[in-house]
This record gives sequence, structure tokens and C-alpha cells, in this order.
Amino acid sequence: MSQSAGLAFEQAPPFALPLRFFLSAPLFLIFAGLLIALAPDALASRWTPQALALTHALTLGFLAMVMLGALMQMLPVVAGSPLPALRWVARISHLALALGAAALIAGFLTGKAAAYGSGIVLLGIGFIVFIVAAAVSLARAAAGVTVNGIRFAMLGLALTILLGVALALLRAGWWTPPAVASAINAHIGFGLVGWVLLLVVGVAYQVVPMFQLTPPYPPRLSRWLAGALFALLLLHAAAPLLPPVAARIVDASLAAGVLLFAATTLRLQSRRRRKLPDVTLDYWRLGMASLIASVAVWIVAQAWPAWADSDAYPPLLGILFIGGFAASVVTGMLYKIVPFLAWFHLQAQLQATAGSIPTMKDMIAERWMRRQFRLHLSACVLLLGVPFWPQLGIAAGGVLTASALLLWINLLSAVRRFIGHGGGLA
Ligand code: HEM
Repeated sequence: MSQSAGLAFEQAPPFALPLRFFLSAPLFLIFAGLLIALAPDALASRWTPQALALTHALTLGFLAMVMLGALMQMLPVVAGSPLPALRWVARISHLALALGAAALIAGFLTGKAAAYGSGIVLLGIGFIVFIVAAAVSLARAAAGVTVNGIRFAMLGLALTILLGVALALLRAGWWTPPAVASAINAHIGFGLVGWVLLLVVGVAYQVVPMFQLTPPYPPRLSRWLAGALFALLLLHAAAPLLPPVAARIVDASLAAGVLLFAATTLRLQSRRRRKLPDVTLDYWRLGMASLIASVAVWIVAQAWPAWADSDAYPPLLGILFIGGFAASVVTGMLYKIVPFLAWFHLQAQLQATAGSIPTMKDMIAERWMRRQFRLHLSACVLLLGVPFWPQLGIAAGGVLTASALLLWINLLSAVRRFIGHGGGLA
């Protein structure tokens, strides 16, 4: 915590700015749960309109929403370089991301060109504003392994958005980009591995040792892993131009890099100094176990073509990677970031002395975070069965909705405590 505690108050963004991202994200997760419960066939195949809507409710509405809010908060701390024009960047990117994700989801569900068009314009504006501001901040940033990971993740995000816009133009019937199958493949690779995983990797170097009191990541690994994974992703995107054996080596190396990160993280967590129960730690462990399971499911598909061609394989991979890995790690982080910010801004605003305001641990009741974790875990387990037995979707979606609702209530309870003790959001 040393770096965060040493952060000058004037340098930190006002609480309201990242908070709007963190409080909007669970609403998209609630929507995703309802969609699964109401349309259990959604996960019968990856190409159903509901599956594509669900994917983007999770990747844009939940994951990107939290990740942009967290970056806004982290850049001044880990890179020593805040986003320029912070208030404007936060307001525009938050509104454009929320409305744009809703429009794109509506586009997938209705097939209406106007909905796709609104999604393209809004998401395009929101992400361009954020990426340009982050690029300025990162260009001025002090070098380090976390900053390095964030740089590659932002490149991954930019490529994902570019390809996503091209694919949405295709769906709207306005343009046919060349090599559509490769573009979809590259969009998924840069989106899930380039953006989501590389950001988690970069942030893990900082927060796993800091929050979970583990030894640091081995410097040799943290120096090269993000760059190597990004280079492999570029080769993966160019796979149609490579000899088949080279493409297989690239994919196998990507899988090995992902496994190495997950296994190292679990090993460091098992060597943590204080073995006290901690919901964030459980979320990270679930995330790493799901990441390993998603690589295992992928390996089976390489060896067994009938499984690779089945309708169940892509949704299962998506559930493990997006739900089990990414959503778990991001939720675990929310449970550290929001209580910390509530405490930090309260003591800075009130110039409070220890004992006169709630501690970070008092901001959200531990037992309610734990209940929410159990609901999330149950939702993940139930979801694994949905590609095989769609009827299970009603229960899985119901539990996911309850879990997301409780997450939202838990985050709101920290804000209520903050305001109740005299904190101001204006
Ligand atoms: C930033 C995060 C994003 C991630 C992680 C992401 C992820 C994905 C994934 C995993 C799929 C495949 C779904 C499946 O196989 O069922 C997909 C498809 C798609 N994405 Fe995204 N996406 C992102 C952003 C966007 C944006 C901003 C747009 C448009 C403005 C977009 C438009 C599309 C379209 C149109 C498809 C369907 C391709 C087709 O079948 O024609 N995505 N995305």
C-alpha cells in the first residue's frame, strides 16, 4: 500500500470520477444475468444474437467499464503521470462507453443498422478520447513492468476497437472488410488476450505483492512476458500467412505464456506472508484456476477436432475466460479499490485522524462480500453446464443476476458509509 498511501491528494482524481465507472459496471452484469435467464438458448452457440450481446455486455459494459475507471486511478500512482484533461476524459468516455455498449447490444439483439451505427459512433468517440489521453500519460510515465504491461494492453485495446468497428460496419450492412474470418479471429485475440489479460498481467505485478503480501513476481518473467505475449498475438493475427506448423507453434507458445502467468501467480499467493482469509485473494485464485482451465479446454480442442467443431466448445471457452477468469479478477479488484478510495478521500477531505473515520476494512462488510463471492462461484459453476444443457441457463442466469445485484449493493454500501461520515462527491 506504500505507493498509494504516499499519493498526494491533489494528484488523485476526485472520487466521483472513477466511482461512476465502478457503479455502472455491475448494471451490465445484472443485464447479462437476466439475458441468460430469459434466453437460456443464448449459449447454445457463439453466433446467436444473444451470445454476441452477452459477450459485449460483459466485455464492454462490465470489464472495460471497470478497467478504464481503474486505469484512471492507477496511472498517477504507478506511472506518476495522471491523464490530461481528466474530468472531461472521464465524463465523455464514461457516457460514451455506457450508451455505446447499450447501443451495440441492441444492435446484436435487433439487427437494426441504426443501433449498430449509434454503437460504432459512441464507442469510437469514447475509446478514442480515453486511448489518446492514456497515450499522453503513458508517454510521460516513468518506466516499469506495470507501465510496460499497460502500454501493450492499450495497444491491444486500440486494435480490438478498430477491428470491432469494422465488424460492426459489416453487421450493419455498410461495409465488407477483407478477410472477415481473420478479422473476427484477431478481434477476439486482441480483445481477450491483448487487452484484458495483458492489463491483468501488468496490474498483477503491482497489486498481487502489495495487497496479498506475496513475494514479488520473478523480475525475469515480469520484464519479458507482456511483450512476448503481444508479439505472439501479432503473429497469431497473421496466422493465415504463416505455414501451418509455424501457426501451431505460435498458438502453443501463447498458451504456455498464459499458463506460466497463472501458475506463477498461484505459487506466489501460496507463499503470502499473512495467511488471513481475504475475498480478493479468493477471487484471484478462482480467476487463475479458470484461466488454467480455459487453456486446458483449448488444448483438448487442438487434439480433438470433433470437440473444436462442436457448438459447445466456444461458449465454454468464453465462460471460463470471461466469466471465470476476467470477471472474477475484476470483481476482486473492485473490493480493494472502492473501499480504499472511500477511506482515502474521507481522510483527505476531513483531515481525519485515525479512529475518527471507518477503516478501509469497515467500508464493506466482509460477510456480505463473502456471500457475494459464493453466489459468483455458484453462477460460474452453473454456467459451465449451460452449453450442454440450455435449461440450466434459467438457474445460472438467476444466480448471476443475484450475484451482480449484491456486488452493486456492496459497492453502494461503501459510498453510503463515505457520505454518512461527511465525505463529499461533488
Ligand atoms: C474492448 C473490448 C471487446 C472485446 C473483449 C470483444 C470481444 C469479442 C468477442 C469475444 C467476440 C466473439 C463472440 C463470439 O465468438 O461469440 C466479438 C465479436 C464481435 N465484436 Fe467485439 N469485443 C470488444 C469490443 C467491440 C467493439 C467496440 C465493437 C464494435 C464497435 C465490437 C464488435 C463486434 C462484432 C460486430 C462482433 C461479431 C463479429 C461477427 O460475427 O460478425 N466489439 N467481440
